[in-house]
Amino acid sequence: MSADGFTNGPPAEARPDWTIDQGWPDYTAAEHQIWITLYERQTALLPGRAAEPFLRGLEALDLHRSGIPDFARINVELNRLTGWSVVAVPGLVPDEVFFDHLANRRFPAGQFIRKPDELDYLQEPDIFHDVFGHVPMLTDPVFADYMAAYGRGGQRATQRGQLANLARLYWYTVEFGLLQTPQGARIYGAGIVSSHAESIFALDNPSPNRLGFDLERVMRTPYRIDDFQQVYFVIPSLQALLDATLQDFGAIYDRLEQARDIPIAEILPTDEVLTRGTQDYAAARAAQ
Ligand code: PHE
Ligand code: FE
Repeated sequence: MSADGFTNGPPAEARPDWTIDQGWPDYTAAEHQIWITLYERQTALLPGRAAEPFLRGLEALDLHRSGIPDFARINVELNRLTGWSVVAVPGLVPDEVFFDHLANRRFPAGQFIRKPDELDYLQEPDIFHDVFGHVPMLTDPVFADYMAAYGRGGQRATQRGQLANLARLYWYTVEFGLLQTPQGARIYGAGIVSSHAESIFALDNPSPNRLGFDLERVMRTPYRIDDFQQVYFVIPSLQALLDATLQDFGAIYDRLEQARDIPIAEILPTDEVLTRGTQDYAAARAAQ
């Protein structure tokens, strides 16, 4: 992920492109154990919930073997499959750095792992979120193309002053996306698949809306960073997602400059409604 508000260059220990060595030999046994605990908890949950491309990617990269994966090892197979690789960064990096890595098929991943008391929630993405959550999908050729295109799109959106709108597309696909299948909706977004509680909530809870994906609508929809989502967008296929983003966004950005944001829980007459959520969960949390 990326973040705004960086005024200085990379930290002293990082290269000009903000990458650092993963330092794999330095992880402690306790840190490897946190990975294994999280890994086992998630993989017990994911069959029948996670999208096929995610589960296939998890297999292909053999992310389990020795606890925290060694990027040098997984990059061999990842590179062979889609030309992507994972690079280590100290934490969040500036948007333009993030986009440049994506455009060049490098996924910046946090090097550190969460503490034992942060298994369920942490503020900055760690290696479990970044690698377990994001990297399996990068083994899928269509998704791999989408992420690289997103990197170039991010550079352009920045110039157009449209980053806030484009970031919503990332959020509602790469982080919190659902995929329609003949067996029902499946999760593929990294923010969901790396979260025990949201892996259940996103599919089973009656509170959130689940709506058919509509590119421009998504870019008008704010999101929450502090709790479960109030709306999920369901893509019909990864190819449909890629196809929708291949068009030039110039005209869309022109329209978005005039358009209002759509309140997070609103359902429009034009929406394809898969679940009309009760919003009970969000209401209960707001009342706390
Ligand atoms: N096609 C978009 C543009 O013209 C770029 C983009 C591609 C954005 C993929 C997001 C995802 O700006
Ligand atoms: Fe993420």
